[in-house]
Amino acid sequence: MSLALLGGEKAVRLDYEKVGNRPLVDEKSRAAVNAVLDSNKLSMNPIVREFEKKFADYIGAQYALAMNNGTATLNSAVWAVGVEPGDEVIVPSYTFWATVVPILSARGVPVFCEVDPETFTLDPADIERRITPRTKAIMVVHVWGCPADMDAIMAIAKKHNLKVIEDCSHAHGATYKGKKVGTIGDAGCFSMQDTKLLCAGEGGVFVTNDRDVYERAVAYGHYERIRELPPDSPYSKYTLTGMAYKYRVHPLGIAVANVELDRLDERNEIRDSQGKRLEDEVAKLGFIRPQKVPEGARRVYAYHYVRYDASKLGGLSLNTLLKAVSAEGVLCGTCGYGRLHYAPIFVEGGPYHDCGPAVPDLRLPVTEALGEDTFMMAPRFENICPELVNQYIEAYYKVLENLDALITYEKELGVTTTQENTGRSINLFR
Ligand SMILES: Cc1ncc(COP(=O)(O)O)c(C=O)c1O
Repeated sequence: MSLALLGGEKAVRLDYEKVGNRPLVDEKSRAAVNAVLDSNKLSMNPIVREFEKKFADYIGAQYALAMNNGTATLNSAVWAVGVEPGDEVIVPSYTFWATVVPILSARGVPVFCEVDPETFTLDPADIERRITPRTKAIMVVHVWGCPADMDAIMAIAKKHNLKVIEDCSHAHGATYKGKKVGTIGDAGCFSMQDTKLLCAGEGGVFVTNDRDVYERAVAYGHYERIRELPPDSPYSKYTLTGMAYKYRVHPLGIAVANVELDRLDERNEIRDSQGKRLEDEVAKLGFIRPQKVPEGARRVYAYHYVRYDASKLGGLSLNTLLKAVSAEGVLCGTCGYGRLHYAPIFVEGGPYHDCGPAVPDLRLPVTEALGEDTFMMAPRFENICPELVNQYIEAYYKVLENLDALITYEKELGVTTTQENTGRSINLFR
């Protein structure tokens, strides 16, 4: 069958929005939202505490604190684990900006570190190389839903007396050696923005098992809860003022997330089994490499980013590959990660220039290569839709079957550049 790009029939005939996706809000969450509206309490509604308790139990953490977004949880975490001006925090560049900028806002210094080319998560050997006497913490990202190599990272942290923050924004429900991610380090940070596995529209949730870290997070962004801390807490004295930030979450979003949390495992199962099948089948073609999941970990398929190996397709550019599969009806995208170490806010310091340039002339070859060759091969399959998954697999098989024609097409047209890199996790290719 010839490629849709060259005039053939599309491989993907089913409509993703109809069979593969689902509405973010259904009858049950609508009813929960209505109950909050009817309660006449649109700020400090008890649903927030109910959700926090449920989330803490689900994750296996002692404390959970809901916030207005994931960025707020990261800002809180950096301060809560004790990062002080001039302290260095080791962090990947293969991530969203909100993993890193909070380090600057605490007047710390982000120290960008390589990721592993197979797992796309922090490379423990490179962490060790970047440790200095000023290193205070390691910021781990379980990117695309795949747990980082936590045993190695925690061993390094222990050896050098460092704090560990986990950015779990893509990894609600992922586990590492029997523990949910977010509970392995000193603090876990989850986004609940509407593209995430657990959705509040906008929202975040911070978790920790450390009483002091919890109290600091309360003091940082929840002034109204400072009075609930024990009188001998070192943070009780800030009741009148807080710490300049107000991170209280909107209860309407939490009403949605609270219902969604009950179904998270079930939804992860649907997404993961189908995501894994797609990846396994397409990987047989040899030109994609899925993210490697560390031993003893269970990933969640928040996003289907894989590496493209152009050498297996006669040097065909990623752009032409995406053009071809997109014409087949595949929802796919380029990757916005892997270039933060070039961002002016880090190189020049921006409003934080008095902290000094963070990354003068830094090159991260593995990270930069990943930024170039990882791409989103499919959207999440939110419903059980084996036929749609089959059609996605067929689309990728068609590329291989028609490779000569596609290479000729590319030669005639010339290689066009890939989309502008926006730094977002999702840059849909159209
Ligand atoms: C890895 C990562 N960290 C942090 C965040 C920030 O979360 P939020 O958008 O809820 O502030 C995101 C959200 O896109 C993310 O993908």
